[in-house]
Amino acid sequence: MKIKFLVCGDVGCLGNGSQEIYERFQNHKQDWFEIKLTGCQGFCAAGPVIQVQPGDIFYQKVKPDDVEEIIEKARQHQVVDRLLWKDAKTREKFEKVHEIPFYRKQKKIVLNTNGQVDPESIDDYLDFGGYDALKKTLTLHPEDIVNEIIKSGLRGRGGGGFSTGRKWKSIFESEQTPKYVLCNGDEGDPGAFMDRSVMQGTPHLVLEGMAIAAYAVGSTQGYIYVRDEYPIAIKNLRIAIDAAKKKGFLGDQIMGTDFSFDIKIKRGAGAFVCGESSALMRSIEGKIGEPNEKYVHAAEAGLWKKPSLLNNVETFANVPYIILNGADKYRELGTEGSPGTKVFSLVGKIKNAGLIEVPMGIALREIIYDVGGGISKNRPFKAVQTGGPSGGCIPIDYMDLPIDYDSLTRVGSMMGSGGMIVMDDCDCMVELARYFTRFLMEESCGKCTPCREGLMQVYSILERITRGEGRMEDIELLEELGEYISESALCGLGKSAPNPLLSTLRYFKHEYIDHIENKHCTAGVCKRLTRFEIDPEACKKCGACYKACVVSAIEKADDGTYKINQDKCVKCGECRLSCNFNAITW
Ligand SMILES: Cc1cc2nc3c(=O)[nH]c(=O)nc-3n(C[C@H](O)[C@H](O)[C@H](O)COP(=O)(O)O)c2cc1C
Ligand code: SF4
Ligand code: SF4
Repeated sequence: MKIKFLVCGDVGCLGNGSQEIYERFQNHKQDWFEIKLTGCQGFCAAGPVIQVQPGDIFYQKVKPDDVEEIIEKARQHQVVDRLLWKDAKTREKFEKVHEIPFYRKQKKIVLNTNGQVDPESIDDYLDFGGYDALKKTLTLHPEDIVNEIIKSGLRGRGGGGFSTGRKWKSIFESEQTPKYVLCNGDEGDPGAFMDRSVMQGTPHLVLEGMAIAAYAVGSTQGYIYVRDEYPIAIKNLRIAIDAAKKKGFLGDQIMGTDFSFDIKIKRGAGAFVCGESSALMRSIEGKIGEPNEKYVHAAEAGLWKKPSLLNNVETFANVPYIILNGADKYRELGTEGSPGTKVFSLVGKIKNAGLIEVPMGIALREIIYDVGGGISKNRPFKAVQTGGPSGGCIPIDYMDLPIDYDSLTRVGSMMGSGGMIVMDDCDCMVELARYFTRFLMEESCGKCTPCREGLMQVYSILERITRGEGRMEDIELLEELGEYISESALCGLGKSAPNPLLSTLRYFKHEYIDHIENKHCTAGVCKRLTRFEIDPEACKKCGACYKACVVSAIEKADDGTYKINQDKCVKCGECRLSCNFNAITW
């Protein structure tokens, strides 16, 4: 068997030079090995990363100049010791992918072949059992497929967690034709990249899931709605659609049966609201992407007023596994109410930032400390924001919360499509609410008054508080406004937009009070309410802050002590991060 060098070709690693690494391998090409530029291998913080198979060897922070040594060692069945991942605390080195703590607790259904296959090669996908689920599907009755998905308990991964099987059933039962199968790859959440990675890394998995859905509900035409900011995903999807048609997995009379199904790509312009189901359908129709009133269901009148099945990228990517392995096997992972796994983009103040897939029900603590390796620079954990811009913040008290749809909703957040932003004590929760409210205010389509006007009011009050001009009565007003917008907005954007505000008010009200009453920002973020000082008692005169300050606001006295010149300080907080003795106060 040939040795395979799998070079991660997802955006993070590409940004760090993995294309050049791949080309270096190509320049040294020999018969005894293959090179692949793969989809995301997950461990973005360690990028550029490479796997060597067979052997499961994992290399991190690889540079183009390392390539010759990697090849030579592989030829001798040895490893390049200095490129192995090392635990910063224990200094222990890990050779194999599945032994590395970041990967150890992950369970992969959706990302199983992401990072293993060349996204541009259908043959690669076939080598990993690709399209076997579609082959099996075509031997079964459509209703059996729908029932299997119902039995699996799969819930929509795009946000709401609606039962996928029940959604399929309603479209299966509709007698109107044509019916459409739509894949939601809009992914407008800042910081999220789950769906992009799946479309980009294993496009055939999404196509196969859609084709199975189409057979089950009786559709002949599908659309993938994907934002234009994802050019590699679009390119790989196009290549995959062409290849699948040539092999007879898409198009007319698929695999010699009566079933025909085609897929088109519809590029979106990157508006967050276009991820909302009715806005997405209007956008595909070529109209302005604005949501509709929800009394008409897409199962009856969706795209072009025809029955339409809309699912998220990750939802479709779960389907081939369920069909091949059965609903009971699928249910072995996850919880009773939330079976299976969930893909998250784990970002923010976390050591092992990256793309992860974990079983539903895993404790938040396990995600943060076992998979994520803990908080960057060992600072204290403050909160995690789940559910994208309109999700909520979960404080430290819920460290042992099982991560599933229902638990997250219970504590005032939501699963959303899988963004997970970790925050430490240097993150201000009032500023966070202000930031996301502004994002949502700008992304609001403006069709309904509570969202359009209400969010503007919330934003202006939050802005005022972060400037130090808040009033105590603002807190009650914000709570009232938040509740009112949630109850009366037309679509999910407006209904969920107050979540960052309401969840921070629920768990971090003391920070709002500190801003208003004491004119002090607890986290040292709001510039007008922050003054950094060096505590002479704690200062060890190491000079780290002096070097970290890019505006030379830290002055050194003749006796070796340091002082911050407040006239020059721009309150960036870099000195505080550089000090190992907590001598910078605020
Ligand atoms: C403002 C807004 C943005 C949304 N963005 C997305 C998105 O980017 N991707 C997605 O799959 N679902 C998104 N949704 C949820 C969709 O409306 C829809 O529920 C989902 O695509 C259905 O697929 P699922 O059942 O597989 O989750 C969004 C909803 C709202 C209200
Ligand atoms: S809630 Fe906001 S985004 Fe939704 S329809 Fe109303 S104005 Fe538009
Ligand atoms: S906060 Fe920033 S600008 Fe001010 S002293 Fe520290 S490093 Fe310099």
